[in-house]
Amino acid sequence: MTLEELHAQAAAAAENAYAPYSRFFVGAAVLLRDGRVVTGVNVENASYPLGMCAERCALARAVAEGVRPGEVEALAVTASPCGGCRQWLLEFGIDRVAFMHEGELLERAPIELLPDSFSL
Ligand code: THU
Repeated sequence: MTLEELHAQAAAAAENAYAPYSRFFVGAAVLLRDGRVVTGVNVENASYPLGMCAERCALARAVAEGVRPGEVEALAVTASPCGGCRQWLLEFGIDRVAFMHEGELLERAPIELLPDSFSL
């Protein structure tokens, strides 16, 4: 699957985002090494800081299916990943991250998105 195709799945998922406060709908799609795709959306809350980003939603859904770091080939998202999500992307050892930025689908490695990062 190409990153463009994975991004198309992220864009389709974004239609289900729950974003009544920002009205900024985000979708993410995770491609697992076994070929499965797991999607996620941003889920906001009246208590604003409790909102969940689309990337973390997709990764959490994958984890609930038994997925562990190293088993994720790629992640596509319809927005530029926030700082917190960049830390999550690193955690999962994802090879390739694709995201829409200023009208262009960029491809990055997680370490490029968060250099000199924290780890235990
Ligand atoms: N958002 C994401 O879902 N992913 C990101 O990486 C950036 C921000 C969401 C959070 C919030 O619901 C909305 O976009 C506006 O910030």
